Amino acid sequence: MPLWFPRMTDETDTEKTVSFGFEEVSPDEKVSRVKGVFRSVASRYDVMNDLMSAGVHRLWKHDTIAKLNPQPGEHLIDVAGGTGDLSKAFIDRADRAGHRRGREAAASAVVCDINDAMLDAGRARGDMAAYADRISWVCGDAQCLPFGDRSADALTIAFGIRNVADRAAALSEFRRVLKPGGRLAVLEFSHMTVPMLQKLYDTYSFNIIPRMGELVASDRDSYQYLVESIRRFPKQDAFRKEVGDAGFSGVSVTNFSGGIAALHFGWAV
Ligand SMILES: C[S@@+](CC[C@H](N)C(=O)[O-])C[C@H]1O[C@@H](n2cnc3c(N)ncnc32)[C@H](O)[C@@H]1O
Repeated sequence: MPLWFPRMTDETDTEKTVSFGFEEVSPDEKVSRVKGVFRSVASRYDVMNDLMSAGVHRLWKHDTIAKLNPQPGEHLIDVAGGTGDLSKAFIDRADRAGHRRGREAAASAVVCDINDAMLDAGRARGDMAAYADRISWVCGDAQCLPFGDRSADALTIAFGIRNVADRAAALSEFRRVLKPGGRLAVLEFSHMTVPMLQKLYDTYSFNIIPRMGELVASDRDSYQYLVESIRRFPKQDAFRKEVGDAGFSGVSVTNFSGGIAALHFGWAV
C-alpha cells in the first residue's frame, strides 16, 4: 500500500477503552474486573475502610449527609452503596430533623450496588437490623438504574463513580431518577490541593495500602487498583464540569482532608 494511502481502521482500532487503574481496557472488561475486585474484598471491606483512612471516611460521609440535609419522608437512592453506610446515616439524620420538629420521621433508602457480595455484607451487618423496614437492597448498575423517573429526593454515590466505566451514562441516570430539585452528592477520592503533602500521600498510597490489603483482606491487587484508579480519576474542576454537563445546576466542590476526597454536590433541574 502506498504510504500516502489512508490506513483503514478495523473495529479493534476504534474500540473505546477506559482506565482500570493504570491499564486501559474495554468498558465490558472494566465492569467485570471491578465486580471481581469488590467480590474479593466484600467481607473485609468495612474493616479495611477504617484501617486505611484511620476512620476518617466516617467524617467525610458525615459531612456529605450534612450537606444533603435529609428530611422526614424523603427517599434516597444510594448508588454503589456497598454496605450501606450512607443510607443509614441519611435515615438517622432525617429522623433527627423530624424529631426536632415533632414530626413523624419516615425517610427511606435503597442501597443499589452491582455486586451481590457487597450487598450481602451490608445486610449482614449487626447495625443494619434496626433499619430492615427502611432500607432495601437492590442489585443494579449505575449506568442503567432499576428505578423509575423522578423517584428519589436525593441520590448519593460514595467512592463508586471512579469504578463506573461510562460516567456520562451514570450521571444521566442520576438525573433521570431524581425529582426536579433533587440533590446529588458524589463523594470520591480526588486530588491533593496541598502540594507539600503529595509525596507523603503517594508513599502511603503506593507502599502501605496494597500491603494492608494483602495482610487484612488477602488481596493486594484490589488495593493496588484502588490507588491507581484514584490517580486516573479527573481532577475536581474537570469532574465538576462533567456533573454540570449532565444537567445538574449549582454544582459545588468541597475538598476533604486537603483534597484526598472531594464532595461534588448539585441540583437536578
Ligand atoms: C469503594 S465501594 C463504596 C461502597 C460505599 N458507597 C461506601 O462508601 O462505603 C464501591 C462500590 O461500587 C460498586 N460498583 C462498582 N461499579 C458499579 C456500578 N457500575 N454500578 C453500581 N455499583 C458499582 C462496587 O460493587 C462497590 O460496592
